[in-house]
Amino acid sequence: MHFLSITDLNKNEITEILQATKILKANLHQHHDRLKNKTLAMLFEKPSTRTRISFEVAMVQLGGYALNLHAGEIQLKRGEAISDTAKVLSRYVDGVMARVYEHETLIELSKNSTVPVINGLSDYEHPCQIISDLFTIYEQFPVDFPSKDRFCDGNREIKLAYIGDGNNVCNSLMLGCAMMGIKMAVAAPEGYEPKIKNKLINKIKITNDPVEAVKDADIVYTDVWVSMGSEEEAEERLNKFKKYQVNEKLLSGAKPECKIMHCLPAHRGMEITDVIDGANSIVWDQAENRLHAQKAVLLKLLV
Ligand code: CP
Ligand code: NVA
Repeated sequence: MHFLSITDLNKNEITEILQATKILKANLHQHHDRLKNKTLAMLFEKPSTRTRISFEVAMVQLGGYALNLHAGEIQLKRGEAISDTAKVLSRYVDGVMARVYEHETLIELSKNSTVPVINGLSDYEHPCQIISDLFTIYEQFPVDFPSKDRFCDGNREIKLAYIGDGNNVCNSLMLGCAMMGIKMAVAAPEGYEPKIKNKLINKIKITNDPVEAVKDADIVYTDVWVSMGSEEEAEERLNKFKKYQVNEKLLSGAKPECKIMHCLPAHRGMEITDVIDGANSIVWDQAENRLHAQKAVLLKLLV
């Protein structure tokens, strides 16, 4: 199977991955041969710190090997088709993780690949980030840690407010939260609301008012105002997003112990202030969990 969208997994499969993540995190070096002799190609059209390193370390710690391929350093740069690249990679490796500008490229890659293709971020979704985020949320609210028959919509409703750009991270987060029963509200400037269409997300409140979105939130999540590939719009975006900054004042409308999440990289003074360094920030756990969650995703797809 390919993992291009969070919806490529159902609720039970996500739960299994979260449970596996918990075990893998608790036993960091005890699974050193589960991907023995397996190779993952990691193809990057854009920069990456967390995705690249967590996948590479995950492969190494599970006994496999990861190849770091920058699109500018292979024949893709000279016009070789993505479909041909997919066919060739499939003859060498056991899986391909790709970070691309256009989601369509991932679809083309997956259609021509006989090995699993994993979305390491496209303009449309960032599903690996959200698997890790769901795990981080369940770690913070352990009473609701999903078991086979009990999910986050059990005894207590958890509310996550996403403030900022209705982008790839927001899209996957909306789908993931909807699937796992986490209440969500999104506040984005006019014109920057999430464009994703899926009946799963019908119940999610989408507003232009960040104060309304954070009301009673257990978690406030933000991401950059200028995603990779949108650099030309930077000036216009920075003006339009000003009132969507996650800061003390905005957080005063959320629950008192409200947790702060950010997929990183962060820009202090833009989408977030130094609240990212405060006691309620869980961004470093969130970043660490990419490693453990990636392992669970790799084991699901490559074994
Ligand atoms: N959050 C995330 O995907 O980070 P990188 O861009 O550093 O991989
Ligand atoms: N929305 C951001 C996420 C970075 C991990 C981007 O696409 O650049």
